[in-house]
Amino acid sequence: MDLAKYGPWALIIGGSEGVGASFARQLAADGFKLVLVARKLRPLEELKAELDGEGAEIRIVSADLSQPDVLEKVREATDDVEVGLLVYNAGANNTRGLIVELPHEVPDSVIAINVHGQVNFSRHYGAMMVERGQGGIILTGSLGGYLGSPTLAAYCASKAFSRIYTEALWGEMQPLGVDVLHLNIGFTATPAMERLGMPIEFAETPDAVAREGLENITNGPLHIVSTPGNEDQVRRVGGPLDDRGALVKDNAIPPREETAQAAQQQAENAGKVG
Ligand SMILES: NC(=O)c1ccc[n+]([C@@H]2O[C@H](COP(=O)([O-])OP(=O)(O)OC[C@H]3O[C@@H](n4cnc5c(N)ncnc54)[C@H](OP(=O)(O)O)[C@@H]3O)[C@@H](O)[C@H]2O)c1
Repeated sequence: MDLAKYGPWALIIGGSEGVGASFARQLAADGFKLVLVARKLRPLEELKAELDGEGAEIRIVSADLSQPDVLEKVREATDDVEVGLLVYNAGANNTRGLIVELPHEVPDSVIAINVHGQVNFSRHYGAMMVERGQGGIILTGSLGGYLGSPTLAAYCASKAFSRIYTEALWGEMQPLGVDVLHLNIGFTATPAMERLGMPIEFAETPDAVAREGLENITNGPLHIVSTPGNEDQVRRVGGPLDDRGALVKDNAIPPREETAQAAQQQAENAGKVG
């Protein structure tokens, strides 16, 4: 990753584990100084200790993205440095359920993190990149952002927002020298997924996802992680307008207990297609 173009500091939102930790390790190896944000202090401290040991300069911020003061909190750690790269990684959905039954805090939090958070952080740090005429912004999305899946209504809708928002942001920022990418992620073996009890044997590795994000930052507005079957899934759900009901029923994200089977099927289908 080009330190002169995107450095000296990178801010990773959701930077303590999984894909976020992979971004941190890869950027630190390229000489970036890092600000890492997450809620739990311990994983942040452990990653900081690991990267400190390799000579990197790391700041950590414990903050909750669902809270309205989160940008102010993070700014306390960044106002005195040049953030040339923003990676907004956090955004997974940990509570599934019918939207009419879930407590309102669940969709509120998903929307705060994936909608308000992506907008507020990209506006603030993007404005300073525009002043410098260079920088990069990666906002993470999901295959779920192409089709509404029952029990994941707010999540799918928030990721659709993220995709459309990022496309527009790319169109605005590209002429101003700032690279913008919506990194569309499929099923990936992160601690968040493991904690949900998801069988991750067919999942992509966090390192591969982060590497593809960094390698494709100039290929915006969109990069779909190259896990076999991901692109195929996007093409399928973007399909016919005349029977969207069948499309949703056949292609919605399955219940958690069926995810491994679906991932295996996706890989097999991709093999046949390829
Ligand atoms: N894993 C998959 O299969 C998959 C599939 C499609 C898309 N994605 C997308 O990939 C991205 C990463 O997903 P992930 O599976 O690694 O889980 P994640 O929970 O979105 O990300 C994990 C990181 O974000 C932090 N984080 C989570 N909620 C936070 C909050 N409210 N405030 C501050 N930090 C928070 C976590 O630390 P703390 O828990 O300590 O806060 C951790 O550092 C997400 O945008 C997700 O939508 C993932």
